[in-house]
Amino acid sequence: MTNTLLVTGGAGFIGSNFIEMLVADRPDWRIINMDALTYAGNLENLTQVEGHPGYQFVKGDVAIREDVARAFDACGSDGQVSVVHFAAESHVDRSIAGGLPFVMANVVGTQNMLDESRARGVHRFLHVSTDEVYGSLGKTGFFTEETNLAPNSPYSASKCGSDMLVRAAFHTHDFPTLITRCSNNYGPYQFPEKLIPLIIANARENKPLPVYGDGMQIRDWLYVQDHCEAILCVLEGGKPGDVYNIGGHNEYPNIEIVKRILKQLDKPESLITYVKDRPGHDRRYAIDAGKIERELGWTPRYTFEQALPKTIEWYLSQDEWLQRVRSGTYREYYAEQYGSDTPSV
Ligand code: NAD
Ligand code: DAU
Repeated sequence: MTNTLLVTGGAGFIGSNFIEMLVADRPDWRIINMDALTYAGNLENLTQVEGHPGYQFVKGDVAIREDVARAFDACGSDGQVSVVHFAAESHVDRSIAGGLPFVMANVVGTQNMLDESRARGVHRFLHVSTDEVYGSLGKTGFFTEETNLAPNSPYSASKCGSDMLVRAAFHTHDFPTLITRCSNNYGPYQFPEKLIPLIIANARENKPLPVYGDGMQIRDWLYVQDHCEAILCVLEGGKPGDVYNIGGHNEYPNIEIVKRILKQLDKPESLITYVKDRPGHDRRYAIDAGKIERELGWTPRYTFEQALPKTIEWYLSQDEWLQRVRSGTYREYYAEQYGSDTPSV
């Protein structure tokens, strides 16, 4: 029997790292990657897996039921199908500019995925959520799986909505769902609108580095490969209906990260430019990942001291990737290949 995994959002940052890991670690699995190829989806992130016999890409929008049905058709009927659902609008600042695309992709898209997945008898449905659903912490304490949900941005509110729909599918329909809530990721293929790749890209061009407010907001950073390993661990061993927090106790204020990047690049701190704060900016995130460590034996492999320099090196070595992403050139290929370069939501 073939194990088949339908991955949504596999052309994005974490999804592409996840597929790359799967091809190496579960070479006999069939992997269907369904992605709408929004501005954040980039098939160049997957060139190293394109030739893999079990891998197939399907362009489709999770908010359109027919697209989801097409992706399931590509999964075939000779084995067990599970779903790992990454597809989402993911950038807080864009959600502040306009929340509707977030409701469409994250809320409507997730319900669509749940409905079609139930209709197809999916074996396990893993929903990739975020620590941002818990809101903001004070100076002490950690988010546990029992922390109340208190989202503060349209992005995190839409992720809360999707989490609640996944929870409801388990309780109402006994559908085997799993939810993961991870802290901030960093690593290869992250779209350079997010803090770390943005600072690297700007610093190397001697451009101003925008730091919101006082730069003392704290995030808990996890190397993307550790997140991917945790997701696979929950998919294979997690208890249906449960939530698993993922994080690695790497708490740093934003300004410290910016300074570390400048140091490694040998660039002056005078590039730092304090700008207007993000509206509703969450002050601190910190994850208690005790449950996944105790119950499933997962622990992160990388510390920030190891993986931040490695990540900076990766961006320095991928100049062409960075230039094409920054200029949007990669989207011209989609227009040619698929007739449209925009998602249909
Ligand atoms: P990303 O923005 O890099 O990638 C999102 C992918 O989803 C893109 O390939 C995009 O084309 C696709 N997509 C968007 N809307 C779609 C739609 N309607 N239909 C099909 N595909 C669509 O995001 P990411 O950082 O890789 O995050 C992936 C998931 O992980 C998200 O659900 C996010 O909430 C969650 N998450 C991210 C982080 C982080 O630090 N980046 C941390 C925890 C959880
Ligand atoms: O915590 C998990 C979340 O992490 C994910 O759910 C989101 O998808 C992901 O985007 C990320 O959200 P953040 O808002 O924390 O990430 P971002 O990289 O946008 O910002 C990190 C911190 O840096 C935040 O405090 C805002 C600040 N920042 C960000 C940018 C882009 C700046 O000071 N300047 C900037 O230019």
